[in-house]
Amino acid sequence: MPFRLRRAAKLVYRQFLALQAAPKLNALAKTSPSGQRLSAALRESFHQLLDTQERDWVRRIEAKRHALDRSEAPIMIIDYGAGDADEARTPEQMAQGVEQQVTVGQMSRISKYEIWVLMLHKLIRKFEPAVGIELGAAVGISAAYQASAMQLNGHGEFITLEGAPALAELTQKNLRELGLNNTRVVVGRFQDTLQDVLNQAAPIGHAFIDGHHDGAATLAYFEQIYPHLADRAVLIFDDIFYYASMRDAWNTLERDSRIHLAVDLQRMGVCVVDKTESQRAVFKIPMI
Ligand SMILES: C[S@@+](CC[C@H](N)C(=O)[O-])C[C@H]1O[C@@H](n2cnc3c(N)ncnc32)[C@H](O)[C@@H]1O
Repeated sequence: MPFRLRRAAKLVYRQFLALQAAPKLNALAKTSPSGQRLSAALRESFHQLLDTQERDWVRRIEAKRHALDRSEAPIMIIDYGAGDADEARTPEQMAQGVEQQVTVGQMSRISKYEIWVLMLHKLIRKFEPAVGIELGAAVGISAAYQASAMQLNGHGEFITLEGAPALAELTQKNLRELGLNNTRVVVGRFQDTLQDVLNQAAPIGHAFIDGHHDGAATLAYFEQIYPHLADRAVLIFDDIFYYASMRDAWNTLERDSRIHLAVDLQRMGVCVVDKTESQRAVFKIPMI
């Protein structure tokens, strides 16, 4: 199918999903003040409702993405993640890392596309965390969306963790060129760097886990992060759908009594921890 037709079909499908989502978003908004914020963030992302300043950031970051996507510059990376869904890397292979020669364009093209990064931006706009962390920077696109939301909030520190030194350096450069000075890039395996970040930066109000798409690792990161969360915190897990072990991990999180709200968006899962709320609710709102 030609690109334009595919894009148009996607837009129509998204509108259909948005229509289906409306009653569920209303129900989510009625659960609690946290549910209200989460519902607003999702609704505004679905319908791409942006104020002038948000629109300006999207334009700048997407221009940067456009340039990076086309870059043929070679880059040597070491990947500590789970690889593709059908790769089945062993825990030893993940711990050791897999060295690969790739291009900047290839790495840029694995960044989350616009609706998802917009959602990350909106979550930060609505929940206004003092500290946000990200596991997995790649070239810094999702980091830029989250850091720019903090810049618009007028407060907040963002920290992104990346295992491949060349990618961490590129992320730093891209954020600097975008004028985002509120972000720290920490280089090294999450297994080696996360604890220090948590000790130094807690309480954490926002965490995007987008690196190590392995179910056991995801649950371990949740357990590691949980004691360092703010009273109200949002956790976003990517790729809960494509990997069997990630689907199992998401099912476990959905049942976890420490989670106030769990929303399965099909590709990503969003959890809200709210220590002032004892009620729990689970929603399934496919976003695309
Ligand atoms: C999917 S990419 C991140 C994309 C980025 N969040 C975006 O959307 O713009 C995942 C990144 O996590 C890093 N990563 C995966 N597992 C890791 C681990 N165990 N420790 C450190 N970095 C890891 C990879 O090097 C890769 O750059």
